[in-house]
Amino acid sequence: MRPVATNGRPPEMPSGFELVTLDEIDSTNEEARRRAQAGADDGLLIWARSQNLGRGRRGRRWVSPPGNLYSSLLLRPDCSAGEAATLSYVAALAVADTAAMLLPSGADIRCKWPNDVLVAGQKVAGILLESHGGGDGGLDWLIIGVGINVAHYPDVARLSATSLADKGATATVDQVLQVYAAAIARWLAVWRAERFAPVRAAWLERAHGLGEAIRVRLAERTFDGIFEGLDDDGALILAQPTGARRRVTAGEVFDPASPS
Ligand code: BTN
Repeated sequence: MRPVATNGRPPEMPSGFELVTLDEIDSTNEEARRRAQAGADDGLLIWARSQNLGRGRRGRRWVSPPGNLYSSLLLRPDCSAGEAATLSYVAALAVADTAAMLLPSGADIRCKWPNDVLVAGQKVAGILLESHGGGDGGLDWLIIGVGINVAHYPDVARLSATSLADKGATATVDQVLQVYAAAIARWLAVWRAERFAPVRAAWLERAHGLGEAIRVRLAERTFDGIFEGLDDDGALILAQPTGARRRVTAGEVFDPASPS
C-alpha cells in the first residue's frame, strides 16, 4: 500500500465535495435522498460508520457493521436519466482504483457488470445508484451509494466475498474514504468533460469475464452467451449461440459453470 495520511484528522475531500460524517444511520443512500429532497447541493458526501438498514441491489440487505465503508454521494448532473446511469461505471472505476492503491501490487482487481468490484474473483464492494427524475426526461438528483468491505465481509454461502484487509490492505476506513473520494472526483471530471467513452474504455480494460461465456439473469428469464462488450450507453452486449446480439440494461451476470 502507498501511504495515505489522515493522522487522526477528518479525511480530506476534493474540491466541490462536502463531507457529512455520521456514527450510525439507517442507510447513507436514504440520508442522502432526504437531504436531496430538502435541497442539498451536488457534491454532498454522506459517510456513516455503520448502517442499520443498509440496502443492496434488488431489494437485498447490505449488512453494515463498523469497520467497512458506507458512503453516498449526491450529484445533480445536467443530463438525461439514461446518460446518468453510466455514472455507475464511474463509481466502479473509482472503487477499483481505490483497491489498486491500497492493495499489494499485482492484486487482480476487476469490475463485474453491472456494478460490483472483485478482488481475485471475490466481491469486495457493491454500488447502488438511485435517482429521481426532474419531470422533463432530465434528472433532479442521483445518489451513488458505495459499500466497500474494508475489515469484514459477509459469510453467506451464495456469495463469494472478500475484504481489503483479507487481501493484504492495512488502511483504515478513514483512509479508504479519502482515497475513494479523490478517485471518484477524478473519474467524475473525466465523465463531465468527455462523457461515457473514456469511462467505457477504462472499465472494459478492467472487466471481469470479457470475451467469456456468461449467463445473464433478467427478472424472469436467463440468457447464455459471450460477454462481448458494452454499448455506447452502457448496455451489456451478449453474443448469443444463434449469432444474435442482445443488449442487456438490467440483470445479474453469472458464470454458467457455477451453480447459481
Ligand atoms: C449491492 O447490492 O452490491 C450494492 C450494495 C450497496 C451498499 C451501499 S453501502 C452505502 C450505501 N447505502 C446503502 O444503503 N447502500 C449503499
